[in-house]
Parts: sequence; structure tokens; C-alpha cells
Amino acid sequence: MLQYGAMNYAVEQDNLTNDNFIRDESLDFGGIRAGEGVNSIHAYPAMFHSRLVRQLIGRYSSEGDYILDPFMGSGVSAVESAVMGRKFIGFDINPLAVLIAKVRTTPIKKDILIDTLANINGQYYDIMPTPPVFPNINFWFTQERIMSISKIITSVDSIENEDVQRFYKITLSETIRAVSQTKPNEFKLVRRKKPCQLDTITLFTTNSYKNINSLDDYYKLNKVAHTPDIQWLNTLTEAIPLEDNSISLLITSPPYGDSQTTVAYGQFSRLSLQWLNLPYDSDKKSLGCKPVAINSGVPSPTLYITLSVVSKQDLNRAMHVFAFYYDMFQCLKKIISKIKIGGHIVFVVGNRTVKGTQLPTDVISVEMLESLYCSHIETRVRLIGNKRMPSKNSPTNITGEKAPTMKYEYIVVCKRDR
Ligand SMILES: C[S@@+](CC[C@H](N)C(=O)[O-])C[C@H]1O[C@@H](n2cnc3c(N)ncnc32)[C@H](O)[C@@H]1O
Repeated sequence: MLQYGAMNYAVEQDNLTNDNFIRDESLDFGGIRAGEGVNSIHAYPAMFHSRLVRQLIGRYSSEGDYILDPFMGSGVSAVESAVMGRKFIGFDINPLAVLIAKVRTTPIKKDILIDTLANINGQYYDIMPTPPVFPNINFWFTQERIMSISKIITSVDSIENEDVQRFYKITLSETIRAVSQTKPNEFKLVRRKKPCQLDTITLFTTNSYKNINSLDDYYKLNKVAHTPDIQWLNTLTEAIPLEDNSISLLITSPPYGDSQTTVAYGQFSRLSLQWLNLPYDSDKKSLGCKPVAINSGVPSPTLYITLSVVSKQDLNRAMHVFAFYYDMFQCLKKIISKIKIGGHIVFVVGNRTVKGTQLPTDVISVEMLESLYCSHIETRVRLIGNKRMPSKNSPTNITGEKAPTMKYEYIVVCKRDR
């Protein structure tokens, strides 16, 4: 078992290394953006670094193998699996994440996309749209924006080719965020002081060319051998549609904690989802959304040691923390039988701080997996700098109270033994 305290101190000193716990600077990918190529289409919070995922897939799977990501987000793991000749299945509870992942993994001929864009632009000034009604629309959008977005959405809704329609929905979603009254570069919805000056249809056209070129350049160089299976699914509450012993590699970056005090993926996506008329309540269903009384249901001694410290400060927060790990363990119990004996599990996690105590999610994950007959192969530690994360979070959920987010992420590798 890992000696958490000593390891953590050594990581903070940037000089860590022991047999299976390695500070790996080669994985920092200094200066290289997390989302290259198609992974640059539409921002998403806490995205994987595509180079990291590519390396891990290469190391722990072979062509034709099945790869699973049960918390797939924007689909970096789907893209990398597809272009490396692996079969991929991924789930996410957030419908916007599912749309982004499908767009990034669906090559479309450039001519078709350019012709469609010309049609959207051609129709723009003649369309008399019926604007949607949803809560707070007038708080987040001016009347002019409501009309201009409605015009584009009316055109996009009439596109017959499903793949092309999805591509323009995601391009419009990028545009909606930029022209709304939300602060740029914030993942939560915060009203900005100065409104965006860019014209909606001009920005939509610019974003369209950016995404058309990303898709075209990428799939000229990379071929998709197996179309990824991307599903809108709640990994916690729904049945996992997979056969036992079918997955060679599970690679995932689960949420960091409950969406109230960590990254609110649903809140990040809400305005787009309201415009696209899709459900936007995923934060209420995400891991750890309901507090659970602390019980002995999670096989991790390190979790209970940590909770004993947090609960002295704030019992309610400790219950929320417990709920997150409890839900995570329920997911793992359901999924583990789907992995082949000898198959690998790669968890990319961050160790956030609650009430001044760092939660060693890397160690807790290992302990949970060991209880499910997996063995720990290694943990590599990388700087998180290239990953899109808010620079501060709100660990208390009190407006204005902020703490720096995590500096490192932990790549935990385990193997299913039986
Ligand atoms: C850290 S993000 C994954 C980011 C992803 N690796 C990427 O590259 O974009 C975690 C994801 O878990 C999803 N999630 C949270 N609870 C879930 C659940 N119960 N079932 C499925 N997905 C869930 C969130 O919507 C979010 O997209």
C-alpha cells in the first residue's frame, strides 16, 4: 500500500520517485496544448491531454482491442482510440459532452460543410425566427443576440444530414458562449461587465471555418478504423451495456468531486443545452450530488483517515466528500467485470483540497481497485498546466471564497488479476 503522506510531500517538492510512484516530467508536455487537432473543437472543462492519452493507449492496448471511458467528457479518449485502430465505447451524463465527442470523431467531407455554411449564411437575413423561451434568457442574452442565434438555429435545425447538423450545433454552441453575457474563460456562469462586441453570424462563420479545417486536416492524416460507440448514459444509475470480460483498457478521468464545489460540467454547458433544447440537469445527477451518511461502504482505509480530519472541521462537507467516493465505488463495482482478466485500468485523477485537507484520490482509487481484485502497477505524476482547468475553485461553495486548484494530476495504472 502507498504511504500517502510521504509521497504527497515529495510530489510537492517536485523530487518524487520510488519504484511504482514516479514524478514523470516527460508527461508534462511543456508548452503543448491539451487539445490538438480535432480535440480543439469546442472547449470542455478538465479535458485530457491528447498526447497523454495516446501514449497510454499505445502502452496498454493493441489494435482491435476494446477501450472504455465511462466518464468520457468531450471524447479525447474516443478520438485517440479511433485513430489508433482501437474499438471504443464511452459514456457521459452530459448531452453536450456526447455531442462534442461525436463531432470530433466523425470525419465529414470539407465540400459538404462549406456548402452548408454558404446556405446558412444565404438564409440568414430572410429568416423570421420564433425565439425560444427558457429561464433567464434575457439575463444572459441581449434581444439582438436572441434574434441572431435563433436565425442560425432555425437554419441548423433544417439540415438533413445528421452528422452535418451535429457539427453545426457544436459550432453554434461555441458561438453562443462567446456572444452571451457570461465571462469568457469561466467554467461557471458568471455575468461579465463588458458585453461581447463581435457580430453573431460573423463569429459563427469564423468558428465554422476553424472547425471545418480542424476536422479536415486531422482526418487527412488520421484514419478512423472503427467508429466509436458514444452514448449518453449515467454510469452510476444505468446498466452498463457491455459483455463481461470484453474490455482491454479502461481509461478515464472521473469528475474531481461533486459538481457543486468542483467543476460544474452541467453549468458550463447549460446555455448551449437550453438553446439546443436538450436536458441541462446533469449536475444534479453527477457523482456525489446527494450527501450520504458516512458508513463503511467504501473499502479504502485512506478515505476514512482523511474523512476523520475533514469531519472535525465540517461534518456536512465530509458527508459530501464521502458521497462522491461512495458513488465512484458503486460505478467501479458495476464496471470491473467488463474488463478482461489481465486488462488495465488507467485513472487520471486530481487530489483536491477540502477544508485545508488534500484528498488523496489517487491512493483511494488504488485501494478501491485492490478490493476488486486488481493490482497496482504504477502511479505517474504530471503537472496539470496544459489541461484546461479553472485557475481557482470554490471549495466551500461560498461566493468569493476561492482556492487554487490542483497543480498535479496522477495517472494511476492497475491491472485486473481475477
Ligand atoms: C473530468 S471530466 C472528463 C473529461 C474528459 N476526459 C475529456 O477529455 O473531455 C468528467 C466527466 O464525467 C461526467 N460524469 C459525471 N457524472 C457522471 C455519471 N454519473 N455518468 C456518466 N458521466 C458522468 C461529467 O459530465 C464529465 O464530462
